[in-house]
Amino acid sequence: MTKINSLSVPPTDAEVDAWWAVQAAAHATDAAALPAVPAPSRTEAAGRLRVPPSRGRMEHWTAGDGTGHAALLLFTEAGNTHTAFLDELTVRPDARRRGVGTALWQRVRRELLDQDRTSVATVADLGGPGQAFAESLGFENVLSMGWYVRDLGADGPPPLPATPGYAFHVWPGLVPDEWAPAAAVAHGAMEDAPSGDSEETFQPWTAERVHRAQRLVLDRGGEMAMAAAVTPAGEVAAYTALVLPDPAGPRALQYDTVVVPAHRGHGLGRAVKLRMEAYAAEQLPGLRWIGTTVADENTPMLAVNESLGYRRERGAGLFQLKL
Ligand SMILES: CC(C)(COP(=O)(O)OP(=O)(O)OC[C@H]1O[C@@H](n2cnc3c(N)ncnc32)[C@H](O)[C@@H]1OP(=O)(O)O)[C@@H](O)C(=O)NCCC(=O)NCCS
Repeated sequence: MTKINSLSVPPTDAEVDAWWAVQAAAHATDAAALPAVPAPSRTEAAGRLRVPPSRGRMEHWTAGDGTGHAALLLFTEAGNTHTAFLDELTVRPDARRRGVGTALWQRVRRELLDQDRTSVATVADLGGPGQAFAESLGFENVLSMGWYVRDLGADGPPPLPATPGYAFHVWPGLVPDEWAPAAAVAHGAMEDAPSGDSEETFQPWTAERVHRAQRLVLDRGGEMAMAAAVTPAGEVAAYTALVLPDPAGPRALQYDTVVVPAHRGHGLGRAVKLRMEAYAAEQLPGLRWIGTTVADENTPMLAVNESLGYRRERGAGLFQLKL
């Protein structure tokens, strides 16, 4: 059976290189038919390996012969200490179907049991080896979703719609202190987004938690920006967040897009996403694609994205196992 080792804390340069090499080899095979999925970035790999997450403790393991690795997030925040998230479990394509994935999983499973976790979840693409592997272990798809991609640049900066009663801001980096409490209130509306039968519970957002999550992106070597629609009373009525895990990379991730319930029906979801595209056109000339995940049952978000020219790239699922 393959020997499994823990990474040093913090990982050495050689360990980061080896981790990144497995990701690059897997990408060359698994994303061969996905032109808008760029090769993994070393900056991102190093950031994720070296800077601990804000919501829990990360464990990293590698196969002794360098053929694969796994990363597990054990939540330490109140309300989620019963569960965990398998952030990554990857085997180099030339070493697959020889039990390396199983050996890594057994190490992960032991840790989950040692830490009294009763469930674990992971995200895998549909129709590929990840889904087959997860299902062979008893994981079930508890939330079907899709990756959607917007190609930037072809049509220049988008025209911005008129939205009377709202002013728009784009905040690169941390949300300014004076807006952080209002941004946290708006963040709370993300609870309305479908989460399927996930065992992870929604935790309240505070200004401090918003800043902590944003600081993590920056500390890991990435960049981020938030585009917000605000009211004269100082509320954040809607926002969307863009994260560049590697500022030199061609693809950004659009995280939350939220319109708080009292402000729905005025086109604000579309408006904040267009502001973000306008910001990207001006400030991020190297950016080619924005990728985002949307649950299949999230009809309003799917409609907004379609109207903005997003195309479905691939299906994915939140796979969960009860232990
Ligand atoms: C998923 C992955 C980690 C599997 O690694 P692996 O070393 O090939 O896994 P194993 O050899 O231990 O396979 C264990 C079982 O999973 C199932 N499985 C794995 N790959 C499969 C595939 N391509 N098709 C069908 N079943 C598959 C089989 O039941 C297999 O047992 P078998 O070979 O005796 O039939 C690897 O394909 C990979 O790195 N994929 C990309 C990353 C990813 O999707 N990770 C998923 C995280 S859950």
